Amino acid sequence: MFDTLREIFTRPAPFGVYTAPELWADEHTSEKMLEYHLNPEIDLASRKHVFIERSAEWIAATFGVNITTSIADFGCGPGLYTTALAERGARVTGIDLSSRSLRYATERAVEKGLQIRYIQQNYLDLETEDRFDLILLIMCDFCALSPEQRHGLVRKFTTLLNPGGAVLLDAYTLNAFALREETIRCEKNLLHGFWSRQDYYGFLNVFKYEREKVVLDKYTIVEPSHTRVIYNWLQYFSPETLTRELESGGLVVEHRLSDVAGTPFSETSQEMAIIARKP
Ligand SMILES: C[S@@+](CC[C@H](N)C(=O)[O-])C[C@H]1O[C@@H](n2cnc3c(N)ncnc32)[C@H](O)[C@@H]1O
Repeated sequence: MFDTLREIFTRPAPFGVYTAPELWADEHTSEKMLEYHLNPEIDLASRKHVFIERSAEWIAATFGVNITTSIADFGCGPGLYTTALAERGARVTGIDLSSRSLRYATERAVEKGLQIRYIQQNYLDLETEDRFDLILLIMCDFCALSPEQRHGLVRKFTTLLNPGGAVLLDAYTLNAFALREETIRCEKNLLHGFWSRQDYYGFLNVFKYEREKVVLDKYTIVEPSHTRVIYNWLQYFSPETLTRELESGGLVVEHRLSDVAGTPFSETSQEMAIIARKP
């Protein structure tokens, strides 16, 4: 018991373990995530659907989306953006870990008569000969990756873009970091059964890494047969640190905004969006 508790309360090195596939592709949690994506009223997994509609409209206008535009949506989930952009004429590819979300996305495409290509894969491992005019990484997924993963992904974006093509991504700012606090919670069926169909005990340990501007939500889920740990890392960025990362991977930052719907950049915003181009 003592050793177990010590393990639960241990602060790991930043980004020491990557468990995104367990979170997004697990049979039970992927079902819960899909419910969140599809709930139009909440900013969980996907943003509120009125925001996504406004965002898709802004993306289409800003990037001049038409039938010649090829778009890759990294972490497309159930296809809320891919569908909206294909409806505006674009040739769209969505990449995601979750077969459950992609099944939903594919069914919607068939229903609507849209040609959208879905690839079920870890986008960090994606290799393709295809080239794109626009790459999306939306809902701050960049923040969940380690510095090495982020560098590799930005280099991949640079390779996959046509010359003059752009990346649109969003990220949490240092204003959001300032609001995070270290906490500990332990509850039976923590998050109302999010982690398992059967009873479990869940610990949430929130660790804040001041120097690195990283926060870890470490979930330890204790079930009758086994215990698992899910590490949700978040890197928080200043405009300068985010720009440096994108430019060190070969992109040129062109615009900074407060969100992916075109809201002008504000120094007080908790999120920022970046348009970066391949020269
Ligand atoms: C926060 S959700 C955002 C979904 C979508 N971009 C939106 O805004 O509606 C993150 C999505 O990225 C996917 N994802 C996370 N890490 C991934 C990875 N390494 N490779 C592929 N997909 C990933 C998850 O399965 C999930 O669907």
